[in-house]
Amino acid sequence: MNISIFGLGYVGAVSLACLARDGHRVVGVDIDQSKLDQIAAGRTPVVEEGMVDLMAQVIATGRVSVTRDTREAVLGTDLSLICVGTPSAPNGSQDQSAMVRLTQELGAALREKPAPHLVVFRSTLVPGTVEDVLRPILERESGKQEGVDFHVCFQPEFLREGSSIRDYDKPPFTIVGANAEAPVTTLKALFGHLQCAFHATSIRAAEMLKYSCNNFHALKITFANETARLCEALGVDPFEVMDLVCKDTQLNISKAYLKPGFSFGGSCLPKDLRATAYLAKTHDVELPMLGSILQSNRVHTDRAIEKVLASGKRQIGMIGLAFKTGTDDLRESPLVLLAEQLIGKGLQLRVYDPDVHLSNLLGANKRFIEQHLPHIGALLRRDLESVVAESELLVLGLGDSGTLEKLRTLIRDDQMVLDLARVGDPGRLRGTYEGLCW
Ligand SMILES: NC(=O)c1ccc[n+]([C@@H]2O[C@H](COP(=O)([O-])OP(=O)(O)OC[C@H]3O[C@@H](n4cnc5c(N)ncnc54)[C@H](O)[C@@H]3O)[C@@H](O)[C@H]2O)c1
Repeated sequence: MNISIFGLGYVGAVSLACLARDGHRVVGVDIDQSKLDQIAAGRTPVVEEGMVDLMAQVIATGRVSVTRDTREAVLGTDLSLICVGTPSAPNGSQDQSAMVRLTQELGAALREKPAPHLVVFRSTLVPGTVEDVLRPILERESGKQEGVDFHVCFQPEFLREGSSIRDYDKPPFTIVGANAEAPVTTLKALFGHLQCAFHATSIRAAEMLKYSCNNFHALKITFANETARLCEALGVDPFEVMDLVCKDTQLNISKAYLKPGFSFGGSCLPKDLRATAYLAKTHDVELPMLGSILQSNRVHTDRAIEKVLASGKRQIGMIGLAFKTGTDDLRESPLVLLAEQLIGKGLQLRVYDPDVHLSNLLGANKRFIEQHLPHIGALLRRDLESVVAESELLVLGLGDSGTLEKLRTLIRDDQMVLDLARVGDPGRLRGTYEGLCW
């Protein structure tokens, strides 16, 4: 293919070298003349393992050229990979000025191009940027329509500096965010041979995914480092602890606990986080991330309270009360805290949980519910039917399949469902109030 690459920093220069190595003709574009001169002379503009040899090798093939001229690059190629920098502005927002300027030039060049063109944004961009900011610029400047005369798509880059050629050849996956089949087909032809899965999604999801991946990486590093600081204060070997943490591929290094849902609760996580924070305090160790988890969890519960209140409904049916489906453990259940708050706001509440029977509650479990919902006996129903029949809004907090099946036959069209546990299939739950879905 004939490919133009805009922005020859770490991402653009490595892509240029690897695509030329794989047999494509590549035009490199940058506003920095010294980078263009270096590449033209077969030298790498970035310090990266393997780039000295690879750059010399691909320049010798004659498949690489460089220019400062956006128009020439667009007219002479079938697709453009956009890899310019998107650094932080002083207020923390993303500085998109280089991207916006370049997009204006790309649009002007497209005006003059009779053949179709594909613009692939590869720089990290805050969700919504391609569809709300860049595509309108391209359409305005070109006088053409995206999806008809040209296509745009977003393909996040996952290479890491220091190992970028290896990461180029073996990324975790290839993700293409697009609104049409054509860009997906083109990028499959270009990157489909890589040893990884290829996923097509929406442009916004692809933009968000890049942030989620980077945030998750930062979270993991911080978790390991906070754990190490506490270990050090306690005289425990942090390497041994983290090594053992990683050996659990069932609950730790796995999909477990990574599905969005309602706040966590129960008899272990909240109390153990509190004990960790206290332990750190008594050893003068700061753990800002671990120390703020309960606060974030509380924000999630508060959001549910706000959503119930925003519905304007006063007759509320809660389906689920225990902290987890399939147990009757009410200790620190966020659903109990939610019920407590809703009662405090004067809403009429009725509760159904197939596993919670007042007569069976014992010990700390009983004490917790008596403290938070002293009139639990008047709220708790033994049948789902009466809870559904008497409620305007159903708050769904459990994932028991039997209850869900029954619920689908009982629910009325005029009823709303707040699917807190993300258990329902909104399409199949008649009456689901989309605005209240998480
Ligand atoms: N560096 C990484 O490891 C990495 C990994 C994944 C994603 N990303 C993302 O990729 C993007 C690029 O990152 P980078 O580290 O390669 O950036 P960089 O700062 O190293 O390079 C950006 C290049 O764009 C050029 N440029 C600016 N305006 C231009 C224009 N109008 N026309 C042509 N070129 C122009 C600059 O001169 C510079 O050479 C960023 O959005 C970044 O967040 C970076």
